[in-house]
Amino acid sequence: MKEHSKRSSGRGGKRARVKSAKGRGGSSTRWLERQLNDPYVREAKAKGYRSRAAFKLIELERKFGFLKKGAVVLDLGAAPGGWSQVASDRVAPSGRVVAIDLLEIAPIAGVQILHGDLRDAATAERLETALGAKADVVLSDMAAPTTGHRATDHLRTVALFEAALDMAERALKPGGTFVGKVFQGGAAGDLLARVKAHFREVKHVKPPASRAESVELYLVATGFRNEKDRQGGR
Ligand SMILES: C[S@@+](CC[C@H](N)C(=O)[O-])C[C@H]1O[C@@H](n2cnc3c(N)ncnc32)[C@H](O)[C@@H]1O
Repeated sequence: MKEHSKRSSGRGGKRARVKSAKGRGGSSTRWLERQLNDPYVREAKAKGYRSRAAFKLIELERKFGFLKKGAVVLDLGAAPGGWSQVASDRVAPSGRVVAIDLLEIAPIAGVQILHGDLRDAATAERLETALGAKADVVLSDMAAPTTGHRATDHLRTVALFEAALDMAERALKPGGTFVGKVFQGGAAGDLLARVKAHFREVKHVKPPASRAESVELYLVATGFRNEKDRQGGR
């Protein structure tokens, strides 16, 4: 079957429809149709962002204002690089961004890129060396490919969130901010208690750019308290 698509001409334009093609399943067709009709995808393209995810960070930043000029930022699970582009624009010219992913990331001005798995024991040290100082902000948009098996996907997401939180506790300076992707109603139980013990304020946020049908949320924790602060009751 031949593929055919009508591009929407922007706001109020016609919705693009994609006919299923030979060799492409229904879910790929739906994905393509959604991409063609997604205003964030169009805007990301127009503004030169590598992912529509860039707008989630822009919206979180607008709400909380954690990306200040001169800040040192760590971006975990950064590929293809939308969040790093936004962070590097905001902290320039005196700030710095260090980014890491399992996947290769093409160079981004003002961003030091590392390739590796955050769950490897040696990675935290590599990141600390690259940072060269404590960070003001640790961002994690890390996500494992979904399996469709809810319990497995949930466990994987929690494990990645925990790895990001370990890194944040290690790398942040007092007063710093941690942003981490969570699923299924947010961090809960012991994990949430741990975040609350380390940060003065903790919020769960669904930025408008996060698709309504996605169960993802972001936890934004501000006012990091290191061991000394916590023992001193600050
Ligand atoms: C949703 S994407 C990030 C999108 C990115 N924030 C952007 O704006 O372009 C999630 C990323 O997490 C990465 N990831 C998943 N597990 C990881 C791990 N253990 N260590 C490093 N990166 C990981 C994936 O490879 C993937 O590129």
